[in-house]
Amino acid sequence: MRKLLNYLTKPIGLELVKPLGVRSKARHQFLTYAYSQEGQSPNRKLISLALKAIERAFKERIDTSGCNPQAPDFQHFNQYPGEHYRLLKALSSCLAPKTVIEIGTYTGMGTTSIYQGLSEESEIITFDIVKWDSFETHLSSDVFNSRRITQRLSDLSIEENFVQFKSLLGKAELIFCDGPKNGRFEAAFLHLLKTLPADEGLRILMLDDIHFPNMIDLWRSIRSPKLDITSFGHFSGTGLVDLSGGLELSPD
Ligand SMILES: C[S@@+](CC[C@H](N)C(=O)[O-])C[C@H]1O[C@@H](n2cnc3c(N)ncnc32)[C@H](O)[C@@H]1O
Repeated sequence: MRKLLNYLTKPIGLELVKPLGVRSKARHQFLTYAYSQEGQSPNRKLISLALKAIERAFKERIDTSGCNPQAPDFQHFNQYPGEHYRLLKALSSCLAPKTVIEIGTYTGMGTTSIYQGLSEESEIITFDIVKWDSFETHLSSDVFNSRRITQRLSDLSIEENFVQFKSLLGKAELIFCDGPKNGRFEAAFLHLLKTLPADEGLRILMLDDIHFPNMIDLWRSIRSPKLDITSFGHFSGTGLVDLSGGLELSPD
């Protein structure tokens, strides 16, 4: 079919090219785009934070002794780079936040990694729409009893819910956004996040999967200082955004 179409369209300069997959064995692959970087600038604070966190992530492992080896994702905790767990732990250590918000609890790998980087005075609030114990999880009732980890079942892309947690979001120095990537949630959430006021301290958004085709336009639309550190995070795309001046998105 492609050959026939090409026979017909070649005279007018159109050719359908067979998409190339990765021929060597990759656990997970998807097609994405390379694009030029106009208007995509980091600032010194982001560069400095990223360098420190990357260096730390290479040195410090995730302690998996309390985790669940039966969970299917267990072996990815210390796959670094390629997975983002050691980077999450390192970012938490470097930023020393009092409050961290995670969106997307799932099996608790992100929660566990962030927790290991935090001081004893800090807390994580992890959001999902599915309760943590519905998954083959790395979390346990004990970690929730410590009161430093709380799960909230709420969809923060819905304005009414966002408003309910707005002051919490406003005080979080680190927001890790790792939700459904369904082409709707992240755009709606970022548009609501724009309503948070600027802050004097360093406030960071880590956005996962920014190389998924349905995340590229959203990532490109961010006008606040930002940095793509995919080679030092999750292979599917890891982006850092400095939210200190408020989140700015391009109007289109
Ligand atoms: C990619 S997983 C999160 C992985 C986890 N953060 C980690 O680091 O391993 C995505 C999670 O987002 C949750 N989710 C889906 N829709 C959501 C929504 N509207 N709000 C919050 N979480 C949502 C899913 O239930 C799933 O647990």
